[in-house]
Amino acid sequence: MRRLNRARITGTGSYLPERRLTNDDISKMVDTTDEWIRTRTGVCERRLAAEDELTSDLATHAARNAMEAAGVTAQQVDLVLVATTTPDMIFPSTASIVQKKLGANLSQGPAFDLQAVCSGFIYALSVADQFIATGAAKCALVIGAETFTRILDWTDRNTCVLFGDGAGAVVLQPEPEGSERGILSTHLHADGDYVDLLKVPTGVSNNLKGGVNAAQAGEPPPPRQILGYTEMRGNEVFKKAVMGLGQLVDETLAANGLEKSDLDWLVPHQANMRIIKSTAKRLKMGLENVVVTVDRHGNTSAASVPLALDEAVRDGRIQPGHLVLMEAFGGGFTWGSALVRW
Ligand code: ACO
Repeated sequence: MRRLNRARITGTGSYLPERRLTNDDISKMVDTTDEWIRTRTGVCERRLAAEDELTSDLATHAARNAMEAAGVTAQQVDLVLVATTTPDMIFPSTASIVQKKLGANLSQGPAFDLQAVCSGFIYALSVADQFIATGAAKCALVIGAETFTRILDWTDRNTCVLFGDGAGAVVLQPEPEGSERGILSTHLHADGDYVDLLKVPTGVSNNLKGGVNAAQAGEPPPPRQILGYTEMRGNEVFKKAVMGLGQLVDETLAANGLEKSDLDWLVPHQANMRIIKSTAKRLKMGLENVVVTVDRHGNTSAASVPLALDEAVRDGRIQPGHLVLMEAFGGGFTWGSALVRW
């Protein structure tokens, strides 16, 4: 790709629903304990969207915060990308709904959703980076937003303890020529051999239990049940995540001719503290240089990286000039990284 511009994150934002669900709350619902959840995952509590709060609402709050931090108006935004596994509707895209809620539709730039489960934000950042790099967009809004708790089976202790709701967003703009700051590279991977290890098996076109094909002649089609719940073979996902992320961080540094010791911050996907620690160990980084939110947010899927990023930018840990490595791993499997000179 011929790169005209380097893209820089000029503003970050996030949003968490108010309601907290602690491990003790969950231990009243399924056979688990605070101790098991904390020691196996690092999660202490997670947030739950209110009954009338949709993914697009979470996304819009986070986007407004990011736009305010970047000092851009809705009219300037010429690309809206929403990474989500839990869209408001099957269609239109959550990005279109967010575009309307923000007033960014006035610019009539493209808006679309991107689905790569927990790697969704990194995937979307990479896509937006390429829009900016080629000059196709001048002000991109990249959002990771989930109401993941709505696709959990609250009787399944293997999964319901892990996830939470939230949203994070960034604004991407072209950096003046010669600047050292911005996205240095992104690296995306997928391996569809593993689609069955982590999934919500019910969808639209694979929902064969009802619908017009199943109806007897002359009968109306029975209603289809669209929604299913998250199923995960956690242990196998765990092993693949550790291996995939380990290789990915090496690949990212090598592509830029940089050393592990050059990194200032690791902003990892917040799935499990043990996975985060293993990636940090591979990078020879102490936990004081790793942004951790899994204890308070749980795994918010596509929202987890931008939520963690926003926290560390706003509390002043990440400073201009710092080298920041973001990474994520999720269903598909998909995995990806972004290396940024802040
Ligand atoms: N409370 C108590 N016991 C539990 C619970 C629970 N909440 N959940 C499972 N157990 C039990 C199991 O039933 C099992 O019992 P058994 O030995 O009697 O059969 C035992 O604990 C061990 O189960 P494992 O699955 O082997 O536990 P593990 O140490 O692997 O931890 C976990 C499970 C936390 C899910 C871990 O495997 C993990 O984090 N996996 C990766 C998740 C991930 O990275 N996802 C990526 C992205 S998510 C996305 O893309 C949407």
